[in-house]
Amino acid sequence: MTKKTLRSTEWFGKVNRDGFLKRSWLRNQGTPDEAFDGRPVIGICNTASELSPCNAHLGDFAEKVKRGVLEAGGYPFEFPVMSVGESIVKPTAMLFRNLISMDVEESIRANPLDGVVLLVGCDKTTPALVMGAASCDIPTIVISGGPMLNGRFKGGTLGSGTDVWRFAEEVKAGEISVAEFMSAESGMHRSNGSCMTMGTASSMACLMEAMGIALPGNGTIPAVDAHRKVLAQQSGRRIVDMVHQDIKLSHILTRDAFENAIRTVAAIGGSTNAVIHLQAIAKRLGVPLSLDDWDEIGRDIPTIVNLMPAGDHLMEDFHYAGGLQAVNKALLEHGKLNGGHRTVTGKTVSENCRDAVNHNDDVIRPWQNGLTANGGIAVLKGNLAPSGCVVKPSAATPDLMNHRGRAVVFETIEDYHAKIEDPDLDIDETCIMVLKNCGPRGYPGMPEVGNMGLPPKILKKGVTDMVRISDARMSGTAYGTVILHVAPEAAVGGPLALVENGDEIEINVDERRIDLLVPEDELAARRSRWMAPPPTMETGYQRLYHNHVEQADQGCDWDILASKRGVVVERDSH
Ligand code: FES
Repeated sequence: MTKKTLRSTEWFGKVNRDGFLKRSWLRNQGTPDEAFDGRPVIGICNTASELSPCNAHLGDFAEKVKRGVLEAGGYPFEFPVMSVGESIVKPTAMLFRNLISMDVEESIRANPLDGVVLLVGCDKTTPALVMGAASCDIPTIVISGGPMLNGRFKGGTLGSGTDVWRFAEEVKAGEISVAEFMSAESGMHRSNGSCMTMGTASSMACLMEAMGIALPGNGTIPAVDAHRKVLAQQSGRRIVDMVHQDIKLSHILTRDAFENAIRTVAAIGGSTNAVIHLQAIAKRLGVPLSLDDWDEIGRDIPTIVNLMPAGDHLMEDFHYAGGLQAVNKALLEHGKLNGGHRTVTGKTVSENCRDAVNHNDDVIRPWQNGLTANGGIAVLKGNLAPSGCVVKPSAATPDLMNHRGRAVVFETIEDYHAKIEDPDLDIDETCIMVLKNCGPRGYPGMPEVGNMGLPPKILKKGVTDMVRISDARMSGTAYGTVILHVAPEAAVGGPLALVENGDEIEINVDERRIDLLVPEDELAARRSRWMAPPPTMETGYQRLYHNHVEQADQGCDWDILASKRGVVVERDSH
């Protein structure tokens, strides 16, 4: 068999001035001759940062990946890319997902890399790195940082995010004191890792495993469990094999992989953010995927993983119960997975989960006893959301899924904050709260504010949920009858922009409808008066974002980024 000439040979294989330049400077780190002898050169793309707390520990895994790469006969180079901590970054981490993806894409293309290992963790870091790698399409493996240990407080457990939202509402309702709320702070996050609820980070880590671009175990092994270091070392070995076998990202991330991901989101009660991220990744690779696919493919699949925010347990419990491979086995047994799909292990989805066992059927429920019978993301359409919007049935109140109510409108999130605690606000629990101008272009960056808290005067009645509609996103750790990602968004003149206080809105999740019950001539008059809000910044990155970001149903990628560009570099200034 003829040995394939690797991409890195373009850099290191020349016996001339150019080859000298490329090799000699790298020798200042003690790089040996063997690194340049035609073996696979592996990039370890690291999002570790002390300002990104969920990813701060990834350096430990980078070292293990390096061991694995060297063992398999490759040579590793670690490089940093921009990182964003969901809980830290202003105005919202989502504003920077596409920027990070560009950093990753250009770093891969510009450097002598034959394969890449993506070290990810906090919410946006996973899709950002995969999007960047997808545009390059070289052999790729993902390693997630893993979830934190269960939160602990007063003898019970605490879930990241989910319990913050709950406590904050309880403070407003006068059920607990501010001091008690604050005392939970240090018990919630006790170890390295990402949110240990089934939030966006956990959902994306599980989806990397489900789609086959991470090794089995990636979704659930706790961050501080030694098995995750083993997984990193194994991933290092495996990426070298993948380079030899020329298994590119596009060979793994096929339509079958996306279908499996959609079904997995339903079964695990995954985050609504997964919809946006997977739409964006699919577009980078040219895989056809629509919002309607989410509704159709994810229907009739029960949420069998009993984790917060939809259920009771946390990621540590999910791992000990058998993890994602046990869920895959259940999905396969019910004909709900493309079992023949090939993964980075070199084996199929079916082969990977053949020996999986469910050790705890309260955490991974039997198929007939799920948290909800239809766990998939429901996609609603109608005159209020012509391009669609989403709701997560497993996190919603069943009685509110088909509801008609009077709109109480907040023009911006600042307007909401100014009014929500006003005792004179004209609202009751039958109303529908509507939030505008929090979409991808409007905010900009589509913040996680769609699960806006209820008015204190309603919470004090013991009411814990109302229908809320917006063009925003919601944290994967949040819950409620929250209708999100309304497209087109208000800031581009979508019908959401035309809603006024007192309008009647009807949602019918069974029929997948969402309608603004206002006569068309009145809507036309409002439309003629509507004016687009100006960009939040006239220059710089935010202006570029404003000009290029696409709507939520398209994945909020930039129009100029949404394709595969490969890694060929024609020119070299040396
Ligand atoms: Fe980083 Fe939740 S804040 S995963």
